[in-house]
Amino acid sequence: MLPTLALFSILSALTASVAAVPCVQFDTNWNLYAFGGSSDVKLGANTTWAQPQTSALSTTGRPPWTGTNSQCIQSQTNNAMYVIGADSSDLSKIYVYNFASDSWSTQTTSGAPSDLGNSRSSSVLDHDTNVIYTLTSKSGLYQLDLSSVTNSASSSALAWEAVENSSFSVDGYSVTATQAANHIFYFGVPNTAAGSANVFVVHYAYFQPDAQKFSGTAFPDTAGQAISIPVESNSVPYSMVFIPNDFSNTYIATHWTDLGNYETTTGAPFATNLINSTQTLAAPTSQDKTASYAASPYDLVQIDSAGDIYYYPTPVNSDYTVSSGGSWQKLSYSLPGTGGSSSSSNSTSSASPSGSASASASGSAASGSAAGASKTASGSAGASASKSGASASASASSTSSAGRASVARGDFIGLALGVIAVGASMLL
Ligand SMILES: *[C@@H]1O[C@H](CO)[C@@H](O)[C@H](O)[C@H]1NC(C)=O
Ligand SMILES: *[C@@H]1O[C@H](CO)[C@@H](O)[C@H](O)[C@H]1NC(C)=O
Ligand SMILES: *[C@@H]1O[C@H](CO)[C@@H](O)[C@H](O)[C@H]1NC(C)=O
Ligand SMILES: *[C@@H]1O[C@H](CO)[C@@H](O)[C@H](O)[C@H]1NC(C)=O
Repeated sequence: MLPTLALFSILSALTASVAAVPCVQFDTNWNLYAFGGSSDVKLGANTTWAQPQTSALSTTGRPPWTGTNSQCIQSQTNNAMYVIGADSSDLSKIYVYNFASDSWSTQTTSGAPSDLGNSRSSSVLDHDTNVIYTLTSKSGLYQLDLSSVTNSASSSALAWEAVENSSFSVDGYSVTATQAANHIFYFGVPNTAAGSANVFVVHYAYFQPDAQKFSGTAFPDTAGQAISIPVESNSVPYSMVFIPNDFSNTYIATHWTDLGNYETTTGAPFATNLINSTQTLAAPTSQDKTASYAASPYDLVQIDSAGDIYYYPTPVNSDYTVSSGGSWQKLSYSLPGTGGSSSSSNSTSSASPSGSASASASGSAASGSAAGASKTASGSAGASASKSGASASASASSTSSAGRASVARGDFIGLALGVIAVGASMLL
């Protein structure tokens, strides 16, 4: 018995000291969700945020949330979310969440570069093609075509493909990328002029040789986080949100290019002077460089590493201008079981969220999701079980303490747990 007890106490000591980096995302009816705590939760429509009521999401096949640079990316066309880098034991796995059926599946991939996961803004899902583009620190730009995946993983592995090396040096760059109008913009590339961003043109698979200058208040040449603001009609996005690590402002960069002729300026869905322009909003209240962001067409949301959630209503008007005078507001709900949370209660997957305002969880607005809906998560559990000591330990730690995962020491702890698990199994 002794080894078993020793194992458990060591496991709990290790898992209690670390926690996941959470994220937020919207479904295409613009209900808000928070992921990566001791459970994943639905918060619902913005009309309910003043008095948040959460419902817990399916735990079957959910990511272990052990990655330090995980990204939760909405596929608007598919009402799905692709989670990248959420399993530190295998960063190449993509977890697919189907919002409509509240179900997870795991997409395995092959040929991933060894240096995936440069930052929490290094991967971009191209709106029109459903292809992920990831700029790595040493291997150049890679792509992964998820057009066959839609809202649930396919049973065969998908292959990453090298695209090309960037036209700029990525040396020391914490990649800060997002898209507008079929162009991927790279903010904060070292040695780029303030107010300019480097560009990859998706439809021509082409890195422009020079950075594009944006008019208006110049954003700093600093890495940070970047996302796009989706459009209600499901067209390509045109507004990009850039939050630099100096928190000087929240920058809204607006871009449109005619697909056939980049010199054309007629036909933009907004005033010509907004093409390649920057407008500003107040900087986030929580100035956490590891926070992550999501947007609906109507709201901008941040979750920081303490699990605290802030939102900025109507960041961009329907004519793509930005009004001054808005502000970030804090939800009276924090996602439990994240990095800064002081919660030390049990974090079993069935525990209901225990945020400050979430007494009644079940009947939250506009749910529509059958809690028990059982889509099979293709092969996710089996895959990790068949691997070495280190990954077996990762699944052990995620079941015993869902969502408690590493920040900086994930790989070390994964390894340590693996050694302990192997040692214990030899003793038992
Ligand atoms: C990117 O550059 C590296 C090092 O110079 C080279 O080995 C690699 O083949 C290049 N990748 C592509 C896709 O051109
Ligand atoms: C906007 O930026 C794109 C990408 O660099 C460029 O092709 C286009 O000519 C620019 N348009 C204007 C009006 O500045
Ligand atoms: C809330 O979302 C709805 C659409 O779901 C939008 O019409 C409305 O403007 C939003 N309200 C605020 C305050 O952001
Ligand atoms: C934790 O779980 C144990 C066993 O299920 C239970 O007895 C205990 O009350 C729980 N503690 C909290 C704080 O929920």
